[in-house]
Amino acid sequence: MAGPWTGWGCVGSVRRVRVGARQTVSVAALIALAAAVLAGGAAAVAGVAALSSILVGLAVLLLAGLQVIVVLNLRRTSRQLNQVARAIEAATRTGSEGLLSDPSRQSAEQLRADVAPTNAGSEGLLSDPSRQWAEQLRADVATTTWNGRLPVPPQTIRFMQDTDASFVTTARTLVAVLARNGLHDTSDVLDVGCGYGRLAVGLLDRQEFTGTYLGFDILRRHIAWCSAVVTNVDPRFVFALLDVRNERYNPEGTLDPATTPFPAASASIEVCALFSVFTHLYRSTVEHYLSEIARALRPGGVAVTTWLLFDDERLAAVASDDSEYPLRLQGTDGTRFMLAEDPLRAIGYPTQDVVTMARKAGLEVVEVELGYWVEGHTADANGREFQDMVTLRRT
Ligand SMILES: C[S@@+](CC[C@H](N)C(=O)[O-])C[C@H]1O[C@@H](n2cnc3c(N)ncnc32)[C@H](O)[C@@H]1O
Repeated sequence: MAGPWTGWGCVGSVRRVRVGARQTVSVAALIALAAAVLAGGAAAVAGVAALSSILVGLAVLLLAGLQVIVVLNLRRTSRQLNQVARAIEAATRTGSEGLLSDPSRQSAEQLRADVAPTNAGSEGLLSDPSRQWAEQLRADVATTTWNGRLPVPPQTIRFMQDTDASFVTTARTLVAVLARNGLHDTSDVLDVGCGYGRLAVGLLDRQEFTGTYLGFDILRRHIAWCSAVVTNVDPRFVFALLDVRNERYNPEGTLDPATTPFPAASASIEVCALFSVFTHLYRSTVEHYLSEIARALRPGGVAVTTWLLFDDERLAAVASDDSEYPLRLQGTDGTRFMLAEDPLRAIGYPTQDVVTMARKAGLEVVEVELGYWVEGHTADANGREFQDMVTLRRT
């Protein structure tokens, strides 16, 4: 009878041996089965061996293929890098070399002729001022931060010789001065002659400040830095360039300082700041700027302005050697200044003239605080600001 192995497909039996009570198996079948098992095992071993060799072969082929791809890619990358390096080298060479002699360009002569009409001299494209300007801006905005938090301008555009730390200290001081004179955390601020953004960075530092800030100046490079860096950090801070003429700061300016309007809407500003700006303006500009301040301020809005003031009583100290700006020279319009060759380096006004001009412009004089500049910058500040401060209010 079929045993448990029948299902295994054994070969037919020759002699039956009784095994146990009911199971019999054929010896021949057992031998055949054993032989079959052995043969199967051998075949399996041989199969596995063959399969393994095939797999190993395939792996070797795969690795070789990968190596070829890597080598080809490295060659291509190195070729591309060489091309880029050659292009950079060509583009950064100056004079008659460089871009103009790059072999990938059609004809150096043709190109030279093409760029000549729009670029000065034989230097062509490479001396294009807008290209140099772009390079300069790129360098300026590759700026550092103070304590990893606040942007600070590059040393090359700071005209007050501030270090990073003193830049931030002054920035905070300017905000504190405004806060003592009417700045609120929601104020709309106008910063006339904003320079390289000291007040802006001070306000940026003041987390509670949720108002708006508009700064303008006549220096393209400074406004470019402020816009590219400060506005980028916080878009509530906006900067504008006004190409107004100033003998000292922007002698090539195209706009008349005594008539050009501020880039601010009428009655849009609550606090207007002019830190160390009236100290560099001729009288006709001062008068115009006071009327522009009055126009831009909302009724009740304030302007915090700094000056170099004098009257009869103070005249000797103002003109003395101790003074930080010895205003020894007298202008025909009642002003005093320090340098004949550069009157706008430091120009002073009679206190009474400032009061009169402000009133005429529609501004009330809230306070005049004399600073310690007449004693030199090393004097004991004793709670005073350095320049004289005049706080004005729009009536
Ligand atoms: C001594 S800096 C003071 C900068 C800035 N207020 C500060 O405290 O950091 C004088 C600034 O007045 C700017 N300025 C000169 N004439 C100007 C004018 N007519 N309108 C606006 N800004 C002017 C200069 O370009 C310069 O940035």
